Order: sequence, then C-alpha cells, then structure tokens
Amino acid sequence: MDKEGTSGLHGDEPVAVTDRAMPDVKELATIALQRTRMPMVVTDATKEDFPIVLANQAFLNLTRYGASEVLGRNCRFLQGAATSPAAIAEIRAGLQEEREINVELLNYRKDGSAFWNLLHISPIHDDDGRLVYHFASQIDRTDFRRIESLEASEHRLLLEVDHRANNVLALVDSIVRLTRSDDPALYAASVQRRIQALARAHGLLSQRGWHEIPLQETISSQIEPYGASRALLDGPDVMLAAHSVQPLALFIHELAVNAASHGSLSKETGQLQIKWQARPQNNGFILEWQETGGPPPPTPRRKGFGTLMTEATIRRQLQGSLHREWSDQGVRIVAEVPNVTVSR
Ligand SMILES: Cc1cc2nc3c(=O)[nH]c(=O)nc-3n(C[C@H](O)[C@H](O)[C@H](O)COP(=O)(O)O)c2cc1C
Repeated sequence: MDKEGTSGLHGDEPVAVTDRAMPDVKELATIALQRTRMPMVVTDATKEDFPIVLANQAFLNLTRYGASEVLGRNCRFLQGAATSPAAIAEIRAGLQEEREINVELLNYRKDGSAFWNLLHISPIHDDDGRLVYHFASQIDRTDFRRIESLEASEHRLLLEVDHRANNVLALVDSIVRLTRSDDPALYAASVQRRIQALARAHGLLSQRGWHEIPLQETISSQIEPYGASRALLDGPDVMLAAHSVQPLALFIHELAVNAASHGSLSKETGQLQIKWQARPQNNGFILEWQETGGPPPPTPRRKGFGTLMTEATIRRQLQGSLHREWSDQGVRIVAEVPNVTVSR
C-alpha cells in the first residue's frame, strides 16, 4: 500500500525487454511517454469526475493547452458544439462498465479549431482489482478523414465518367453497326455526321456541367446545320435530365437529316414545325414534328438506318412511343417520351 491507499498497480508486463534494460524499465517507460508522438493522458479513477493526473507532451501539442491548464480537469473540456452526444454516451457507458473504449469524436483545441480524435481508453486496476486510473491515447484523424472523403468523391467521379463513357460508346457502337451504305465514302460521311451530332450534345452537356439541358436547346443545336431558319420551334420550358440528352439529340439529328435529304428541308419552299408539351406531372414530354411543303413522300417506304435508329432510341432506350404518318403535306412524327424531364 502507498500513502494514497492503493496497492501495486496491476499492469502489463513488458513483452520484449532484455535483462540489461530491465532495471531501467520504469525510467525508460517515462522517457518513452514523454518522447512519443502519440498523445496520452492518465486520469485518476479514485477521484470525483476522473481528473487528469498526467498528460504527455504530445497531448499538449495536439490540444495546444499548457500543462497547468489540463491537470486536474476532466477531459470533456475538449468537447464542443459539434461533438456527437452519442459518442459521449458511449464513453460514459464504457467507463461505467469498466471496459476498454474506442470512439472517434470531434474535439476542439484551445484556439477553437476542431480535430477528429480517435480515442482509446482503458481502465487500470490495482493488485486488489480496484479501479485506480484510466489510460487514454488520442490519435488525430483529421487529415486521414479529409483524404478519405477526397478519395471517396474521386471514386464517385471516376464511376460517373466510366458510366458516361460507356453510354456514349454504346451509342457510337450502334451508329457504326446500323449505318448502311454500299458506298464507303457515303458510309463514312453518315457515321461522321452522327458522331458530330453526339459531339454537339456533349458540348451542351459540358457547357452546363452535366446538369439538366433545355429541350429547346437540344433540338436547335441539332437542326442548326440543316436549315434551322426554316424551322419553327414552339413549346414550354422543358428541362431534360443529362442522361437522356445524347440519345434525344441523335433522334432529332436523324429526323433533321431525313428532312434535309428527302423531306421538307430539301426544298426551298418547305417548312418544319416542331412543337412540344410537357406530359402530366412533368413526366417527360410529347414532341410533334410536322414537315410541310416538301416533295411528295417516297414510295415504297424503306426502313433506313434513320428509322431504325429513331425507333431504337425512343422505344428501346427511352421507353417512349413513336408514331409516324405521311400525308401529301409531308411527314408528321409524334414522339412521347416519359421519365426524361426534371423540374427546375
Ligand atoms: C482517460 C480518459 C481520457 C479521455 N479523453 C477524452 C478526450 O480526449 N476527448 C473527449 O472528448 N473525451 C475524453 N474523455 C471522456 C470525458 O472525460 C468524459 O468521460 C465523457 O465526456 C463522458 O462523461 P460526461 O457525460 O460526464 O461528460 C476521456 C475520459 C477518460 C477517462
């Protein structure tokens, strides 16, 4: 028994020490405690509210308090406004049950700056089994957490880039596969035009940071090269979700190319009217494409790539419906596309 009434401490024996160092082991442990970069404190478990009785230099460095400002205080002075009450309750429960505690919680330095503290607390008993001290170490995890969250957002970004690249590659694949022409030069020109249509849609998306894009802009960017001046666009503000912009752009492109090669835009007097309206609950839109004043419709009507592509895009890719009819006036196409719009 010492003068405070505790018998010898029931401590851990050093696991790796030579006979040469054994006589110095206590002093060496004290030096190590002071020199280690691991912040550590010991609190008195026999006193009301567990005051700090020992704090090493690394603890003072971490918290930026002086020795006289920490000795005799309970460690809760490190807590503050954003410290999790659940983490504090976990410590309280662990102390009550006299078991080891491992918790990560937000603490504050003397200057008010916050740090993430990976706190480990373990009880120290005397030879009679009485709880006499607690030992604790504090690891500053702030940098680690910052890197972790940067890595997580980088990872999310990479997944997104991957996903977008896959979508566009699938579109390019269908263009290359489905474009038909016996003439290699014509084939190359059609593929190139379609890829350029995709590139224009990509340009819109990147200008707007891959957020929603107005339907009107998507349409006008595709009809621009094929006689936009003779087209009348009319419809409310409808915003497209980013994922639908490239397929829809390709759809409009096909209609525009058809109009320019066989339809109303192939004749000086021809007109094109594109109208749209939002579907109920802003769930997608209905688009009406009406050509007038063009040459008489071709007979028989063969399904070219344009038709295959527009059907594949609207029906299969966007789960919409597509209706096409010819009159002496020209072709009229109605596309109904759900699930592609977003509210502002
Ligand atoms: C040895 C020891 C070290 C502690 N170190 C910290 C610490 O670094 N940061 C902290 O927020 N709480 C620390 N605590 C916990 C608080 O001192 C206190 O026990 C906790 O806030 C729960 O009690 P309370 O609800 O009465 O505040 C430590 C406790 C002990 C016993």
